[in-house]
Amino acid sequence: MKQQKRAGFSSSFGVLAATLGSAVGLGNIWKFPYLTGANGGAGFLLIYLLATLLVGLPVMIAEITLGRRAKVNPISTMEQLAPKGRPWWLVGVIGLVAAFLIVAFYSEVVGWVFAYIVKAIDGSILSSDRHVTEAAFASLISNPLQALLWQWGVLLFIGGILMLGVTKGIEAIAKKLMPLLFLLLLLLCAVSLSLEKAGEGLAFLFRPDFSKLSAAVVLTAMGLAFFKLSVGMGTMMTYGSYFRDDQDIPLTTLRVMAADLGVSMLAGIAIFPAVFTFGFAPSAGPSLVFITIPAVFSQIPMGQALMVVFFILAAVAATGAMLSLMEVPVVIFHERLGWSRRKATLVTMLSLAALGSVCALSNSTLAGFTLFNLNMFDLFDFVSSNIFLPVGGIAIALFAGWAWGKDNFRQAISNQGRLRNGTLANVLLFLLRYISPVLILLVMLKGLQVF
Ligand code: PHE
Repeated sequence: MKQQKRAGFSSSFGVLAATLGSAVGLGNIWKFPYLTGANGGAGFLLIYLLATLLVGLPVMIAEITLGRRAKVNPISTMEQLAPKGRPWWLVGVIGLVAAFLIVAFYSEVVGWVFAYIVKAIDGSILSSDRHVTEAAFASLISNPLQALLWQWGVLLFIGGILMLGVTKGIEAIAKKLMPLLFLLLLLLCAVSLSLEKAGEGLAFLFRPDFSKLSAAVVLTAMGLAFFKLSVGMGTMMTYGSYFRDDQDIPLTTLRVMAADLGVSMLAGIAIFPAVFTFGFAPSAGPSLVFITIPAVFSQIPMGQALMVVFFILAAVAATGAMLSLMEVPVVIFHERLGWSRRKATLVTMLSLAALGSVCALSNSTLAGFTLFNLNMFDLFDFVSSNIFLPVGGIAIALFAGWAWGKDNFRQAISNQGRLRNGTLANVLLFLLRYISPVLILLVMLKGLQVF
């Protein structure tokens, strides 16, 4: 099996679409707006931008470069590229665990999104009264059977696409979904900006309030930067292993980062002007999407149709991200254990359904079950974004910057000298060696109140 030609992304646009598909996700729609809202608007945005440029982007480039060099799953990538006998393959294992933790809670939210497409169509969440939309959301998440079935449905749907393979599944779908995503988003922005208090919504997003900044907020911003760019857990390494050899990695990642930021901002622009116009509080927590949005949309002309569009948009965004998350265990099981891709996908789906149930039931049957004051859903979210991704990020930065060897890095990033990006490579090496790991560590320890 190892000798067979390994599948990969077939075109340059396919590479871009799939990678952007991974980065763009519920993070842009569900996390980014409410975290920005809750943590001081543009002040938070600025910190987020810094975290992205100094930490997220270099680690993303490193991950993709390593993946493309080895052209194999993350555990084997680290094993192959590391000096003999060093346990760097553990980075791949950490990534595997992180993938499981993230999918466990993420797939639950994706389940709600799919459920909301149906509810938007049948009109059952169409009410300008926040109490009604609140009750509708509560009844969805507190009904164990509904919560489980929607989540499992999502796992089945994503697993089905993954079984079609890397080129015919992931790449083909991403190429269709990404343009659709931008189209729907622009439509919603146009509507939102035409509303009466659009200015207030924009000011909220862009006017900085630095009084809310704290170490915990900086950690949140950094965690979000990792989560947004899908770095620190082997997703980008996996996708890197499907990159074409002639692909300009730094340029591609920069485009992905910029487009992803664009989607986040557009999502904010689609959401906040409407929220302000109808007098709702912007920092409504995760419930912003599922409680406030329906209440807001039901007051706009053609609101029901737009609400359907909004949740389809969220589902489109989530699909690309879910594909990349689940691809990590699939390719690891497939290549490390020699299972067929189909069997690897089935096992991944089943084990995620089991672990995910713990999150899906965290608002009903398991509501009383908490650790560190967090229910399982919040715990998995917190631990993956604030511990696993940063730790993975440090390890990847240190590996690419120190252990792998400068020349290997320069060679790989310049497509064996074909691209003239020597200065860029030096800047990246400097960041990966001295800046990213130290920043991640400091922010992490401070944010977790270790000192
Ligand atoms: N980047 C995705 C989002 O913003 C989430 C994700 C995290 C995907 C980690 C893959 C890996 O929603």
